[in-house]
Amino acid sequence: MQLIEKYAKENEIPIIQKESLKFIENLINEKKIKNILEIGSAIGYSAIKMALVSDEIKVLTLEKDETRFIEAKKNIEKMKLCDRITILNVDAKEFILDEQFDLIFIDAAKSSNLYFFEKYKKNLKQNGIIITDNINFHNLKEEEIENKNLKRMVKKTREYREFLIANEEFETVFIEIGDGLSISQRRG
Ligand SMILES: C[S@@+](CC[C@H](N)C(=O)[O-])C[C@H]1O[C@@H](n2cnc3c(N)ncnc32)[C@H](O)[C@@H]1O
Repeated sequence: MQLIEKYAKENEIPIIQKESLKFIENLINEKKIKNILEIGSAIGYSAIKMALVSDEIKVLTLEKDETRFIEAKKNIEKMKLCDRITILNVDAKEFILDEQFDLIFIDAAKSSNLYFFEKYKKNLKQNGIIITDNINFHNLKEEEIENKNLKRMVKKTREYREFLIANEEFETVFIEIGDGLSISQRRG
């Protein structure tokens, strides 16, 4: 795993922060999660870490960038996890999926969080959870940013938080670790 972390650092590939990962691993363990959908594999780091929590876990992970997909596939093979991690080189915005999961981990384009939440909630089991990473988006202040794209990302992240807070179907808790995680579960 250290080699994957080194590769990510050297190639500026964003992977989940250690303390956020620890939190997710504990949750997977506590809730006895078996089936995971991940949106945004990058080079397979978080998918591998989640699969390693228990031998019973299966992960389906989606990555649209071909180079990252190839690297992720290699890493999954090296870790001998091909029978438990399926990675697809697809755009998660267009992908059609019928399967149901205990956990959906949203970790792709931050401006599309809301879109992914709405698109994939039908793939969540009744008592399942949706986790989203980088919910604080580096704590950047919208009014202090000049770069248009960055400003848009921060605005989208704020709008996603507001969407989760106001959501009548799902209840969300925000965890202030790493870059911020949200944990959403159906009400009732
Ligand atoms: C933050 S990285 C994922 C990190 C990974 N989950 C980890 O912690 O090891 C986000 C990834 O999402 C991918 N991505 C962005 N939009 C996507 C989409 N529409 N469909 C699939 N993958 C997407 C990017 O190419 C990028 O590799």
